Parts: sequence; structure tokens; C-alpha cells
Amino acid sequence: MYENLIVTTEDAVGVIQFNRPKVLNALNSQVMRGLTHALAAFEADATIRCVLIHGSERAFSAGADIDAMQAATPVEMLRENWIAAWDRPRTMTKPVIAAVSGYCLGGGCELAMACDIIIASESAQFAQPEIGIGVIPGAGGTQRLPRAIGKSRAMELILTGKFMGAAEAERRGLVSRVVPVEAYLAEAKALARDIASKPPVAIQFAKECVNKVFETALGEGLDYERRMFYFLFSTHDQREGMEAFLAKRKPEWKGQ
Ligand code: CAA
Repeated sequence: MYENLIVTTEDAVGVIQFNRPKVLNALNSQVMRGLTHALAAFEADATIRCVLIHGSERAFSAGADIDAMQAATPVEMLRENWIAAWDRPRTMTKPVIAAVSGYCLGGGCELAMACDIIIASESAQFAQPEIGIGVIPGAGGTQRLPRAIGKSRAMELILTGKFMGAAEAERRGLVSRVVPVEAYLAEAKALARDIASKPPVAIQFAKECVNKVFETALGEGLDYERRMFYFLFSTHDQREGMEAFLAKRKPEWKGQ
């Protein structure tokens, strides 16, 4: 059903793998359409509680497909607006984890940053190399990278196209954790399963509240968080979670 993507489910985790090894998982409009479709399907499937996106050990993705876009005109790009697909992980109600190994460049890095958590392998390399092909990051890189690692280093990376290794990415807070190559996918899946086992409504609100940090002023974000917190007291899972804690038993989440 999906060309260049392998889409599977593992219990409550939806898994999407880029599968264009010959071009290091470069992202063309077909891949991005497939990704959008798969994310929408997981969003609509109540049995899925967390989504994982990954590539291969050699490349999460080397970015937007340069061959496919090199002859495009601004009007064609505007009409298709294919870059809008990059923001989809952020707008999903369910958490989306990026498991990154090898090249994570340009649009690949921008997609990983649009996810909620990045788990990196020791071989992961991040860059916004668009300057080297005469353009700038167009799928969120100039906005998300400075928020993630600070203005000065982000500016340096974006203006030079230089690569940043996994250890630095971890030190600067771009990724949540660095794991040996042979274990990164298993660790990311274990994290996805852990998140999938939590109360879904509270998980959705927690994701929305953390994202508010990047979209609003502090006062607005605090107000939003407080309202979401109060609202959770109308759910079954809040009562169940607190009762189970007090009764020293395991909670049973209903997502209600
Ligand atoms: N688009 C299309 N094809 C790509 C590609 C890309 N982004 N990245 C790599 N490829 C292709 C190469 O053309 C090559 O194809 P052939 O075998 O047919 O020649 C194949 O993948 C393997 O690549 P290399 O031979 O170059 O492998 P390497 O190990 O020597 O170098 C690399 C790897 C450093 C990733 C290098 O390929 C590279 O610099 N790629 C381009 C990275 C880039 O500029 N990405 C940004 C794209 S623009 C963007 O993403 C815009 C946006 O903001 C939305």
C-alpha cells in the first residue's frame, strides 16, 4: 500500500520506516504523502497510543529529495504545499518518537525535530546543509533548531551546513538520549511501549502543554496547562490512577 515506507503495528505502537535505501531515505512528495496517510491512520486508530518513525542504521533521512525538487517553480511548490506534511507529527494528538541513526539532514532533521522525542544512535549526524545547495531550511529548521540548541550554535550550523554528531546533539538537548547503534531501535520501541501504557487523555494533554512552550508566552502556557490539569479531573483515568495509587494496585486505563 505504501511505496518507500514500511508501515506496521506492534501492539499499541504504530511504526513507520522510510525505505528508500538507494537515496539514503530522501523525502520526495510520494514519501511525504505516504507518511501523512500513515500518521492519519494511526491517529484514527484507537488501539494505537504512540507512533515511532525510523529509517535505516545508515540514514534516518538525507533530507528532501534534491533530484525531485531541483526544477520546481515557486508556484508549483505553493500549489502542492508538500512541506506542510512536515508539521504533522506535532499536530498529532498521540506522541511521535523519531529513532535516528546515521544521516539526519535537512528535511530529515526537520522531520525528527517535529517529532516529540528523538532517540539517537551513536552514529547519528544532524545538519541543516541546505545552504550548500543554495537554499535555506524550509520545513522548520530555522525555527526549531534554535529553540532546541540555542541561537548561536544553530546559526553556525545553518549558515555553514556543518554536521553535528550524536554526543553533541545530546549535550545540547536536541536528542533525549544516545544509544549504541545495535540497540537504538529496540530502546526507542521500548520507550514507545512505555508511553503507550500510560493514560491516553493525560498523555495527549501533556504533549499539548509541552508544545505550548514553543508557541506561547509563559503566562499563556501556564494558564493553558492549568486548565488541562483541571479538565483531567473529569476523566475516568484520573480517578482510576489516584484510587489505584492509594489502594497500592496497578491502574487500568480506559482512555476516558
Ligand atoms: N536527495 C536526493 N538524493 C540524495 C539525497 C537527497 N537529499 N541525499 C543523498 N542522495 C543520493 C545521492 O545522490 C546518491 O545517489 P546516486 O547513488 O544515484 O549517486 C545516493 O543518495 C548516495 O549518496 P552519496 O553517494 O552522496 O553518499 P555519501 O555517503 O557520499 O554522502 C551525504 C552522503 C553526505 C548524505 C550526501 O549524499 C549529501 O550531502 N546529501 C544531500 C544532503 C542535503 O543537502 N540535504 C538537504 C536537502 S534540501 C532539504 O531538505 C530542504 C528542506 O528543508 C525541506
